[in-house]
Amino acid sequence: MSDGSSFYITTPIFYVNDVPHIGHAYTEVAADVLARWHRQSGEDAWLLTGTDEHGQKILRTATANGVTPKEWADRLVETAWKPLLATVDIRNDDFIRTTDVRHEVNAQKFLQHLYDAGHIYTGEYEGFYCVGCEEYKQPSDLIEGVGEYVGQQVCAIHSIPCELLHEKNYFFRMSTFGDQLLALYEENPNFVQPESARNEVISFVKQGLSDLSISRSSFDWGIKVPWDDSHVVYVWFDALLNYITAAGYGHDDEKFSRLWPATHVVGKDILRFHAVIWPAMLLAAGIEVPRQVFGHGWLLVGGEKMSKSKLTGIAPSQITDTFGSDAFRYYFMRAISFGQDGSFSWEDLSARYQSELANGFGNLASRVIAMVVRYCDGEIPVVGEFSDADELIRGTEKRVTDAATLAIGHLAIHEAIAAIWELVDDLNGYITAQEPWALAKDPANRARLEAVLATAMRGLGTLAVLLSPVVPQATAKLWTALGGSGLVSDQRIDRAWEWTGGPRVSPLEALFPRIEATVG
Ligand code: MSP
Repeated sequence: MSDGSSFYITTPIFYVNDVPHIGHAYTEVAADVLARWHRQSGEDAWLLTGTDEHGQKILRTATANGVTPKEWADRLVETAWKPLLATVDIRNDDFIRTTDVRHEVNAQKFLQHLYDAGHIYTGEYEGFYCVGCEEYKQPSDLIEGVGEYVGQQVCAIHSIPCELLHEKNYFFRMSTFGDQLLALYEENPNFVQPESARNEVISFVKQGLSDLSISRSSFDWGIKVPWDDSHVVYVWFDALLNYITAAGYGHDDEKFSRLWPATHVVGKDILRFHAVIWPAMLLAAGIEVPRQVFGHGWLLVGGEKMSKSKLTGIAPSQITDTFGSDAFRYYFMRAISFGQDGSFSWEDLSARYQSELANGFGNLASRVIAMVVRYCDGEIPVVGEFSDADELIRGTEKRVTDAATLAIGHLAIHEAIAAIWELVDDLNGYITAQEPWALAKDPANRARLEAVLATAMRGLGTLAVLLSPVVPQATAKLWTALGGSGLVSDQRIDRAWEWTGGPRVSPLEALFPRIEATVG
């Protein structure tokens, strides 16, 4: 079946009941950095994102706003969700909406296939449903309410009471896949990562799986069940299928076999859907399970998961309007260990912008280029002999390229950036120690001056290539100023250190300009 030749990576598809906040943008950026990295490694990388548009949550929001759910979804997709991609500079290869015909038709094919194979039956269910999560909750998922909900059990994520539902629905025989799933986690320890997420999923499955209610008949905003149009497909069952319908399942076999299986980047709130329900659905259909499900942590505000419903949401543009998309991308990828929760603070963002991006990286680039202009008329020196200090920088370039590549291999984006920053720091230390401005005062030191500037230029070229997935705009400007040929985003990242320099530099505007305004 799959030849798995591609690096296919996905974000969750986002609910269109509201506009994006920085938590959503965080997921987008992480997946985009990984996709860009793999593209620059010469792989056929393919990034999918999109929107989740069916279900009760969207229906209720649309009704409350006096429009049809499709009108509501269209409005939010065009005015909020697609623009988010430009706001944080996402280079996605496709954008799927669950209301796309290509999705609806092929999701129905999948369902019919499961039905024909005997994995679906009619049953009854009563339980507590959280519309915010679009999920039936077990008593152990609920917590004691506070404020107006004191004395009631509420959803641990949304802090509001669940609704008691009693339904006659179609069910997926998920309970029969418990052993196969446990074997999968055992045989492929990387299937669910990080380790904390893997452990949580294993202990959940070990408690025994129930069958899953996969249709609803009390409302009609969804994909019709193909053999019974009085039911619509449960929104999660519908949504998970986006990963294959967008990749050609049911309509483009060649594409599907090239792309599938995917790496799924998701927030830990939706880990079970991706690491339990989704592989069970695929096993039932005889389709290969995903390559990996990575559950990242939450952005916290005031110690709680940031969310619009709790009024702690921050719009991505609040940050990018002042700091730019590169700074947004850098900050969240660098400051938070990917896989763990992290608290956002304006102070931390400002401090890192100033010390790491503006002073550490931006100034280094401006100073070196200015010196090449001043001392060498803009011509990048070609040097025959390098000193030990120059060779040390060369060594650092190679070492951090390898370390960053290794870190990305296990999705440790923060570790990759930290490794690359060793080169930023070493180059700054090198310039301070070599004092090219002092060497320039005496023509007898000309050869040494040229070796220092050539070494620094090469270091900057390496940095431009390595940092391109994280700060694409700044590195594109830097690459042009360095006289690099082609696009920096087309340079092989696993060989970033091999770059030896262009013919001439051109002037470089400040990569990370000083920010005067008070923010927050
Ligand atoms: N529609 C479902 C996903 C279906 S995927 C087949 C959904 N959508 S969502 O819009 O509520 O959120 C999706 C994702 O946004 C989360 O899994 C997570 O990746 C991201 N985040 C939402 N809030 C977040 C934080 N506060 N912090 C980090 N990520 C957050 O769930």
